[in-house]
Amino acid sequence: MILENKTILIMGIRNKWSIAYGIAKSAYDNGAKLIFTYMGEENKSKIEQLTSEFEGSKAYVLDNAAQDDLVKEVFSKIKKENGKIDGIVHAIAHANTEDLHNDFIYTSREGFSHANDVSAYSFVLTARMAKQLEMLNENASLVTLTYHGSTKVLEGYNVMGIAKAALESSVRYLAENLGKEGMRVNAVSAGPIKTLSAKGIKDFNSILTEVEKRAPLHRNVTTIQVGNVATFLLSDMSEAITGQVIYADSGYNIMGV
Ligand SMILES: NC(=O)c1ccc[n+]([C@@H]2O[C@H](COP(=O)([O-])OP(=O)(O)OC[C@H]3O[C@@H](n4cnc5c(N)ncnc54)[C@H](O)[C@@H]3O)[C@@H](O)[C@H]2O)c1
Repeated sequence: MILENKTILIMGIRNKWSIAYGIAKSAYDNGAKLIFTYMGEENKSKIEQLTSEFEGSKAYVLDNAAQDDLVKEVFSKIKKENGKIDGIVHAIAHANTEDLHNDFIYTSREGFSHANDVSAYSFVLTARMAKQLEMLNENASLVTLTYHGSTKVLEGYNVMGIAKAALESSVRYLAENLGKEGMRVNAVSAGPIKTLSAKGIKDFNSILTEVEKRAPLHRNVTTIQVGNVATFLLSDMSEAITGQVIYADSGYNIMGV
């Protein structure tokens, strides 16, 4: 029970296929008390039903994790109702559909800015707001989700690759800033998983097939496996690790031609 007595905020749960859900399952099974944020008031009952298996958990609507005043409002409420927390999982990303379907060169300024705002800046905002509102306990751990498309060209990942590169670099800068207070910041680079977000990526099934064919472990990863890595990073077992991108991808990223 490596998360016993820890309260973890998980941002970005949408349904049972979400990576956030796999992380929640793993963190809960390892003793964590959970708090969630999700998008869309209209999803309230669906999310409450989904998270009811995590006894004692609470869920809050956060319609745009990249909007300062909304994040401040929701985080203030979370702190008031739950006290300080020990970790945050940021599992949020979005890009406009046309920017994932057209060649990257046609990415609009608005699309470029939107993908970076929601998928990278929201993590910086999360960290800053949590610090400013003094939400985090000593030794708190922040974890975000990234993908291999940050460093390699994957057809159809396009502007999201740029956003993930910004996110990974933000992890390093945030780790330096928060390290002064004993807090850690890391990313899990998950292998491809068929979630609702992934459905927006062109030819996603062929990426899954390729991983099975070429990854050292010759299999795709599950949300629970990714969740177990996040649980480790949220726990004191990983207290020597900060500013890192840890791959949970069946080893796919090490392969050359
Ligand atoms: N599925 C994959 O293959 C894969 C691989 C590596 C990394 N990731 C990353 O994992 C994270 C979770 O994605 P997922 O695959 O579980 O998909 P998902 O669709 O289940 O989750 C994405 C979440 O982002 C939320 N979101 C989008 N825009 C938002 C905004 N403006 N404000 C607040 N929330 C917003 C959605 O509501 C949703 O809950 C993302 O960062 C994604 O890039 C996914």
